Amino acid sequence: MNQLREIATTVIVVGLILAAFHSLLRPRHDIRGYEFLPGMVQSKALESFSASPLLPGGLVQQQLVHGVIPRGARPFPYGEGTEEATRAGQELSNPFADATGKDLDRGRELFGIYCAICHGPSGDGDGRAVLHGMVPPPNLHAERARTLPDGTLMHILTRGQGNMASYEAQISLEDRWRIIRWVRELQGGER
Ligand code: HEC
Repeated sequence: MNQLREIATTVIVVGLILAAFHSLLRPRHDIRGYEFLPGMVQSKALESFSASPLLPGGLVQQQLVHGVIPRGARPFPYGEGTEEATRAGQELSNPFADATGKDLDRGRELFGIYCAICHGPSGDGDGRAVLHGMVPPPNLHAERARTLPDGTLMHILTRGQGNMASYEAQISLEDRWRIIRWVRELQGGER
């Protein structure tokens, strides 16, 4: 009985010593000591823009399938140009037209982030970029900007107009409507 206990104790003690040595001597703790099928463990990664002999077109990065849109995005069914801007003005209305509180605050905040740099914090067309040589944008309090319908403003924000680029990629559809709501607020509520 005693002998059995001694053997068991020895086995446990030797086992603990070996385990301690193993963890101390392992040169790199992020790599397992033994790799079974190393080709799978260390698979070869390809850079997004590199060539690939396997994929269509010889490129790793594939073209998007026609008509694909990002998750959560909604298509904007208007092309470029003033005719399409007019059509958008006739067909679209701002779901945030009467928004107050949080939505209005968000419109103000986003206008400050994206638009004020050119249009100025109040929309007068005197933003900092203008002081540094940017083409001055039209005054948003002028007759034209005040009487353009909300849908046309949405078209301008989405497709751009002349020297102003599109904001479709940077600002979601809802947030563009909130910004337009804020522009109306700046203009004193006229629509
Ligand atoms: C880089 C400078 C710049 C930024 C940033 C910018 N705009 Fe403009 N914006 C312009 C210029 C320049 C025009 C005039 C474009 C043209 O017709 O050639 C313009 C035109 C407009 C018009 C049409 C006004 C009119 O009378 O035709 C509206 C409305 C407008 N911008 C709103 C916005 C809003 C809202 C934002 C923020 C999302 C924004 N802009 C961001 C430069 C800018």
